[in-house]
Amino acid sequence: MTPELEIHRVTESRIGQINWDNLPFGHIFTDHMLVMDYRDDSWQTPQIVPYGPISMHPCNTTLHYGQSIFEGMKAIRSKDGRVTLFRPDMNAKRFAESCLRMAMPVIPEARFIELVKTLVRFEQTWIPDRAEASLYIRPFLFATDEYLGVRPSKTYKFMILTCPVGAYYAKPVSVKIEETYTRAAEGGVGRAKTAGNYAASLYPTQRAIEQGFQQLIWTDAKSHEYLEESGTMNLMLVIDGVLLTPSEDSDTILRSVVKRSVVELAKHWGLPVEERRISVAEVITAIREGRLTDAFGAGTAATIAPIAKIGYRDELFELPALETRAVSLRIKAYLDGIKSGDCADELSWCVEI
Ligand code: COI
Repeated sequence: MTPELEIHRVTESRIGQINWDNLPFGHIFTDHMLVMDYRDDSWQTPQIVPYGPISMHPCNTTLHYGQSIFEGMKAIRSKDGRVTLFRPDMNAKRFAESCLRMAMPVIPEARFIELVKTLVRFEQTWIPDRAEASLYIRPFLFATDEYLGVRPSKTYKFMILTCPVGAYYAKPVSVKIEETYTRAAEGGVGRAKTAGNYAASLYPTQRAIEQGFQQLIWTDAKSHEYLEESGTMNLMLVIDGVLLTPSEDSDTILRSVVKRSVVELAKHWGLPVEERRISVAEVITAIREGRLTDAFGAGTAATIAPIAKIGYRDELFELPALETRAVSLRIKAYLDGIKSGDCADELSWCVEI
């Protein structure tokens, strides 16, 4: 009988070497990772193995054509010791959608969640107990055929890494509205969480960083008049008391788990929310007239990330003081509270592993 899971343990854990007060995002990895290969049209037995390098053929099709997707999730330990994942069903669904868009074999959603839970359970001593810290989970899938022609691979590797992390953005961010470069165009792969979307963002983001910003706010590919998302996070604004976020009707915006949760939460609280096209012009006018009272990014890594400044063309707009941001402060307090167990999880979003 095929075993359901193979386990190869490290001989010595690295956990004693970790400085839990300094967890820069994405640098520290737990002792083990999960690997599951796909070949002969089926998923093979998953393995938990020591974290470390993997070998790869130089013709690996991912290296040449980028058939690669990923997810981002977090595990938290609440004050009463429970370990939870935040809405893992949404990540599983998005991962399956990314698989389809990138012509990759789908991992059934229940199987995806079970594999994530298996690794998190195995590595749970690595979940930090500091405020703002968590165990970041990075499931990813990439092509492994050794072939230089352009066609979907027939073999793949699915892996999950886990890393204790602190905040992705240590400080409120300064973002630039991008009007020259484009993240995604209709009919493209903007909705898929695929590596190439992030590669394409690097050069424009690097230019923005040189100008003193941390991130971009992308605009639509056709006119550059409408806001889209921010690459590492989705965009949320409060104008005239209404929580606004660009609608995800087009296929150019990643369907963010945290953004969806913010929208659902705001509706649950009875706050006015609009998901629609948002023009750059209306946002700039609202800032000038003092009607924009809150702006933040929403994302798994970024969590609820306050936006301190927005750059547009030659102008830099300082947004309202952080302590006045009633909406984002309330949302952040609620999301932190349900994860730590300090407040009731009214919408049942935290799933115990
Ligand atoms: C996440 O929020 O998990 C992301 O994938 C964004 C980023 C770190 C690339």
